[in-house]
Amino acid sequence: MANYNLVAVSGSLRKGSFDTALLHAFAAQGAAMPESMNVEILDIDFLPVYNQDFDANYPADAQGLKDKIKAADAVLLATPEYNRTMSSAMKNFIDWTSRPYGTAPWSGKIVFTLGATGGVVGTALAQADLKKSLLFLDAAVMGQPEFYMSGNAQKFDAEGNLTDEDTKKHIDGALAAIKARIDATR
Ligand SMILES: Cc1cc2nc3c(=O)[nH]c(=O)nc-3n(C[C@H](O)[C@H](O)[C@H](O)COP(=O)(O)O)c2cc1C
Repeated sequence: MANYNLVAVSGSLRKGSFDTALLHAFAAQGAAMPESMNVEILDIDFLPVYNQDFDANYPADAQGLKDKIKAADAVLLATPEYNRTMSSAMKNFIDWTSRPYGTAPWSGKIVFTLGATGGVVGTALAQADLKKSLLFLDAAVMGQPEFYMSGNAQKFDAEGNLTDEDTKKHIDGALAAIKARIDATR
């Protein structure tokens, strides 16, 4: 049994997503840590576009996502940058899990954001918007270390495995920081 249980969500639904691939790298490196950090990647493909009518009969599978977040020691959110903000899939996930009003699992939750892009700004603007929404929901958003990945295509092999050594080191550093943040709450 892992000592640290994390859940992770990718804001990209496409099969070859670099953001999802990054989360798989976090999961692999977390499992290899001496303290065993388990990273469960949650599926959000099934969520329709949110509207407030769903609140009256909130679906069980969306509730399942909220329950997983509530039970987790920390949450990893990987967002692509779409038109200088987070992807619509990530925003939709945030909106779904924020409702019905008063039932959001985010207050006090440790959240680490990251993102991967082929562009040069490394999802900085997307993550800034994501952090803004999370702060509004009272999450314990980690300000450091920051995790911006550019030049996606050069950092993974054809099967989507992370090959870039600097990024692997950065992931280890991020996992250690998340672990320290969790330890401080225990
Ligand atoms: C609709 C759309 C808008 C995009 N806008 C940006 C952008 O604002 N900044 C950026 O760096 N890349 C942008 N990109 C490129 C994405 O960063 C790139 O496709 C990335 O690989 C998407 O993440 P994924 O691999 O996890 O799907 C955009 C891509 C799409 C499809």
